[in-house]
Amino acid sequence: MVRLVQKEETLDPADWNAMRALGHRMIDEIMTYLQEAREHPVFQQIPEEISTKLNEPLPVEPQGAEKACEDFLNNVLRVYQTMNIHPRFWGWVIGTGTPMGMLADMLASGMNHNVEAAYTVPYQIEMKVLDWLKDMLAYPKDACGLLVSGASMANLIGLTVARNTMAKFDMRQEGLQKIQRKMTLYGSEEMHSCIQKSVEMLGLGNEALRRIPVNADYEIDIEKLENEIRKDKDSGYQPFCVVGNAGTVNTGAFDDLDAVAEICARENLWFHVDGAFGAWVALSPDLSHLASGMKKADSLAFDLHKWMYMPYGVGCVLVKRREDQLRTFSLVPEYLRHDEKAPVWFSDYGIELSRGFRALKVWMSIKEHGVKKYGRLIQQNVDQAHYLARLVDRTPMLERTAPVCSNIVCFRYVPSRLDEHSLKELNEKIMYQLAFSGAAVVSSTVIRGKYTLRVAIVNHRTTREDLDFLIREVTRLGSAWGKAR
Ligand SMILES: Cc1ncc(COP(=O)(O)O)c(C=O)c1O
Repeated sequence: MVRLVQKEETLDPADWNAMRALGHRMIDEIMTYLQEAREHPVFQQIPEEISTKLNEPLPVEPQGAEKACEDFLNNVLRVYQTMNIHPRFWGWVIGTGTPMGMLADMLASGMNHNVEAAYTVPYQIEMKVLDWLKDMLAYPKDACGLLVSGASMANLIGLTVARNTMAKFDMRQEGLQKIQRKMTLYGSEEMHSCIQKSVEMLGLGNEALRRIPVNADYEIDIEKLENEIRKDKDSGYQPFCVVGNAGTVNTGAFDDLDAVAEICARENLWFHVDGAFGAWVALSPDLSHLASGMKKADSLAFDLHKWMYMPYGVGCVLVKRREDQLRTFSLVPEYLRHDEKAPVWFSDYGIELSRGFRALKVWMSIKEHGVKKYGRLIQQNVDQAHYLARLVDRTPMLERTAPVCSNIVCFRYVPSRLDEHSLKELNEKIMYQLAFSGAAVVSSTVIRGKYTLRVAIVNHRTTREDLDFLIREVTRLGSAWGKAR
C-alpha cells in the first residue's frame, strides 16, 4: 500500500522560545526546591489524591509540554518528599547531590552523547575523570577503569574480571561447565548483599562465598580468613578471591586491607575491594590511613553518588591490569569494528554498550569545588559521626550498639526491663515516627542480635544542630512511648 505523503513530524518544539521559557521556569523551580530543602519535611506519605492523579491512563494524544511540566511540579515536586536532599536524611547510604551536579546532568542529557567511541570529547573527559579518580584514591596511574551506574555494577564487573582471570581455563569460551575444582571466594560477614548477588550472577553459587567472622570492631578476622582458605585448599577447592571492605554498610568498619593484600599475594588470590562509600576516607586528613591498602587491590569498586555527594547514578570500577579487564569483556563484532589504532572503546571494558555522559557531572563537580573541599566535607561527616556518638553516650536511655569508625553511628533507645522483642518494637516505632513526622530519616539494622537505629552521614548539608535535634526527638518519642504504656 502506498501511503499518502503527510507533513513530516519531529519531536522538537514548534515554538523554541516557549520551550526555552519553560526550561528557565523548570530551573527556577528546582533551584528553589534545593535552596529550601531544609524548610520542608524530610518525608511525607503520598496523599491519596496525588496517587489517584498519578494513576492516569496512557496518554495517546498530546497533553503538551506545559501540562507535562505542571503535572511534574504539582504532583511530583510539590509533594515535598525531599528525602535524601534534606540535611536530616541519614538512612541507608544515600547521597545528597548538588546543584552543579544536577545542571551537569541536564547538559549531558541535552548533548545526549553515547560515550563509547574514542574520537570524541566526552570520551576524553571520561578518561580524564578516571585519571583524577585514580589520583584521588592513590590507585596506580596505569590502571584501567570504567564509570558505571553504581557500586553494585562496579563490584559485579570487578568480580567478573577476578573470576575469569583466576580460572584455570578459558572461562569465556568454556564457561563454568568446565570447572573441575569449585572456585571459592572470601569476605567478612559484614559484606554488602551486592557481593552475594554478583556471585550468584557469576554462576558460582552463594555457597562459594565464604563469610568470615569479624572482630569486636567489625573488621574481618584475619586469622579465621587464613584458616578458611587453608581448609578449602586442603579440601580440593580453588580459592580465587578475597573481597576487602573499605567501609561496611552496617557500621562503616574497615577491614585491615594491608593484611588482606598480603594474604592474597602469598596465596595467589585476587584482591577486590568494595569501597562503595568508604573509599573516600582517602581524602580525609584523619582517616586516610584506613584506605592505604586499597592501592594494592587488583580491582576496586566505589561510588560517586554516595560520599562524593554527586547526583545518581555514578559509580566506578578500577582494575589494576588493563589486559585482565580487556580479556574479560572485549568483543568487537563487524558492526562495531573501529580503527584499531585508536584507543579501545568503553564497551570493551564492561557490560554496557550504550552509555550516557555521566562523566560530565563528575568532571564539573571536581572542577567546581576542588579535591581539598571534598576532603574537608568527608572529614566534617566523620567528625559529625563522632559528635553524635558522644551525644548518644551521654544521654540516659540511649545505648550505642557499635563502635564508630567512620561516618556511621548505631544506637537504640533502651528503657529498663524490656526484652529484645519489645526493644525492637519500640525502636522501630521511633524510626517510623521520625520519618512520618517529617523530622528525620534514619534506617535500621541488627547488630549482634540487637535491633538498632542507624545513622549514615554522607550529607554535605547536615549540621551539628541537626544531630542535636535528632537526639532530642529520639528521646522525646521514646519517653512518650514509655508514658503511654
Ligand atoms: C558497602 C556497600 N557496597 C555496595 C553498595 C551498593 O552500591 P549501589 O547502591 O551504588 O549499587 C552499597 C550501598 O549502600 C554499600 O554500602
